[in-house]
Amino acid sequence: MPLQVKRLGRTFFAEVSGLDLRQNLSDDTIAEIRAAWMEHAVLLFRGQQFTTEEQIAYSKRFGKLEHNLRDDNAFVAPLGNLNPDGSIRDPNSEQSKFLRANQLWHSDSAYFAAPAMLSFLNGRVIDPAMPDGHTQWADMLAAYEDLPQSKRDQIEDLVAMHDMQTSRSVTGRVLDPDERKKWPPVYHRMTRIHEETGKKIMYVGSQATQVVGWDLAKSKKLFVELMQHATQDKYIYDHKWTQWDFVCWDNRRVVHRQRPFDEAKYPRVVFRSVVEGTAPDVIDGKGVNELERFQAIHNKQRAAAE
Ligand SMILES: [Fe+2]
Repeated sequence: MPLQVKRLGRTFFAEVSGLDLRQNLSDDTIAEIRAAWMEHAVLLFRGQQFTTEEQIAYSKRFGKLEHNLRDDNAFVAPLGNLNPDGSIRDPNSEQSKFLRANQLWHSDSAYFAAPAMLSFLNGRVIDPAMPDGHTQWADMLAAYEDLPQSKRDQIEDLVAMHDMQTSRSVTGRVLDPDERKKWPPVYHRMTRIHEETGKKIMYVGSQATQVVGWDLAKSKKLFVELMQHATQDKYIYDHKWTQWDFVCWDNRRVVHRQRPFDEAKYPRVVFRSVVEGTAPDVIDGKGVNELERFQAIHNKQRAAAE
């Protein structure tokens, strides 16, 4: 049966209905979901009451999962404002400051050499009285394609350093020496070709720190200019959560941010799983030729299949 897919955003974001993702879905259905996903970039499924194990099982159908940042044995991370005992965490705690960087526009795991491909969020604890705490996504493909050709030419071959500390600095969090060692700055091309759709898309977000060969001020001016362009209302979809919403997005095409809410008042926890990226786009400080990158990815996939 064809999927029931309804586009909600102007250029992206669709709601898929009629599926219980906890069931053991056929390969054909997974392929249909993936095709809809590549077309719309963000998919919303309502009423998905996943356990952690069920969310892992479903997420794994789309690729190899990233380990949690703080737990190498876990593939699902609870992101929210509750302590393990269920009480509301102090909004001024170091962990709250760390997570508040999610309120800046970003693509997940930009601090890895091969950043996240796909992300999944399940809204497990959502207070119906909470008036805000939405999540927003912005379509970087539509924004990139609307850029003047001169701007696209300017960023075509640029490589930028991305650093987790850059976004955390905004929320008043300093990485400790262990964290600094674990998550050093990495490099990404400013335009990347999407491995599945073949579309060229710009890659920038809150961790972008400096363009290679440029000074900091000039770099920041370019990042701000691009992000202001990409996050105009016409490129954004704003989602208000209800409990058990399951939203899945393609980090290669969209950036996202969590909107603020009264963290001392409303409990809010979303459970995240992530399919890891395929290959670095910069090696030894130089942008990898995209054809070579695809070749490397396909060779790896072929070797894994044999
Ligand atoms: Fe995120």
